[in-house]
Amino acid sequence: MAKKYFINTYGCQMNVHESEKLAGILADKGYEECEGEEEADIIVFNTCCIRDTAERRALGNIGVTKARKKENPDLIIAVVGCMPQQEGAAENIKERFPYVDIVLGTRNISMLADEIDKVVASRNAEKKRSDKKYRCFSRTLPEDYLDIDEHTPALRTSFPNAWVNIIYGCNNFCSYCIVPYVRGRELSRNINSVLDEVKRCVNAGYKEITLLGQNVNSYGNDLDSDVNFARLLHEIDKIDGKFRVRFMTSHPKDLTEAVMDEMAASNKICRNLHLPIQAGSDKVLADMNRRYDTARYLGLIDGLRSRMPDIGITTDIMVGFPTETEKDFEDTLEIVRKVRYSNAFTFIYSPRKGTPAAEMEQIPYAVKQARISRLIALQNSITKEISDTYTGGLYEVLCEDIAPKYGQKVCGRTDSGRLVTFDGTKEDIGRFFNVRITQSKSASLFGTKEGEIE
Ligand code: SAH
Ligand code: SF4
Ligand code: F3S
Repeated sequence: MAKKYFINTYGCQMNVHESEKLAGILADKGYEECEGEEEADIIVFNTCCIRDTAERRALGNIGVTKARKKENPDLIIAVVGCMPQQEGAAENIKERFPYVDIVLGTRNISMLADEIDKVVASRNAEKKRSDKKYRCFSRTLPEDYLDIDEHTPALRTSFPNAWVNIIYGCNNFCSYCIVPYVRGRELSRNINSVLDEVKRCVNAGYKEITLLGQNVNSYGNDLDSDVNFARLLHEIDKIDGKFRVRFMTSHPKDLTEAVMDEMAASNKICRNLHLPIQAGSDKVLADMNRRYDTARYLGLIDGLRSRMPDIGITTDIMVGFPTETEKDFEDTLEIVRKVRYSNAFTFIYSPRKGTPAAEMEQIPYAVKQARISRLIALQNSITKEISDTYTGGLYEVLCEDIAPKYGQKVCGRTDSGRLVTFDGTKEDIGRFFNVRITQSKSASLFGTKEGEIE
């Protein structure tokens, strides 16, 4: 009988895609996915450390596996990704969870296959369960990472969407953020490798390609050629076939006019952009080391909307950064009113050890919580108002999944990124439909099909 794997994924889309690579590595070794941890021969935790809550969730679940290991001493437990890449974190995991067998950092996941063999070999050789040794490669960021990565298989799990990495790492060092410390410096993939992967996905029937990077707009900066993100979009747009292109995340300091022009000229690139603002006060933005101000940001919004009046713009906003005063927070509310995002991901600032902002004097948690509640209430009312403008209109929707909550229904998104629920079956997944919007409920739209788009 084939051995079984179960992967727990935390964090961003980058991690979701890296879990597809972990699944690819495990499938190559003959493992099959199972429904729950209890059936697994190997449990992998692909972790995130962007906020304290993300870390605590993973640590809690790793703790639970102690009992499983008692029941099944052959079980292999691996902790990989961003969390063990932090300074001192691998040692901490080793101390708290001595039954963890394998620890791998963000650029070492391709070692999983070999590490499994080594764990099995050492168990067979010694046959003593008291062996607490485990191998940890979390602090090394190999130079030849891109070459290794090109040969790591991926078992895609998000049809009709295919995730495609274009750049790894981050050079920005926003003062609150752990990512540059755990993901290393920017490394852009070769443009031909990216284009080949997009073509392979389109030929295999994927209908949406989402380009991934911590900052997609820096794509190409580290390459010798004159390749940049606008040029990559231009080349992807020329690939034959009916498919959509999305990308994330864009940093406002690096979003260029050329990228906006490519978006506007293309009928494959969605009129949808995620452009994190983080805060609406220029002082806080400077303290965050974001390297743009609100004037620059609002200029970008104008540039996008003058080219694409129907564009859906979403954002990330953080409240409770150490230097944020009540007035600064009100500036954030003000910019949210000005921009009118179709949706916003809102976060309470969480101090990350080793980052400059964690050393500053912190704001009481109750203040942060009160601020985020006000921000969410404001954004919800804007989201609802924008949703209402869709009612009665006809939109092209890519059917992405069944919507079990609503019975015989499916869901998908408009070009602008709005979620629509409509009548359909699982045979509709991966097909484009014209959908008439009949009802709106805060962030969700409901509609009826008026024919397929070939
Ligand atoms: N590279 C992306 C963001 C990746 S992290 C960018 O620059 O936009 C996703 C979001 O998590 C960030 O946009 C930010 O809003 C939030 N975030 C990052 N660090 C955080 C922290 N220490 N506490 C709370 N939220 C944080
Ligand atoms: Fe973090 Fe800033 Fe890099 Fe985004 S751009 S990953 S917020 S350091
Ligand atoms: Fe988390 Fe790492 Fe992504 S810290 S948000 S999984 S890059």
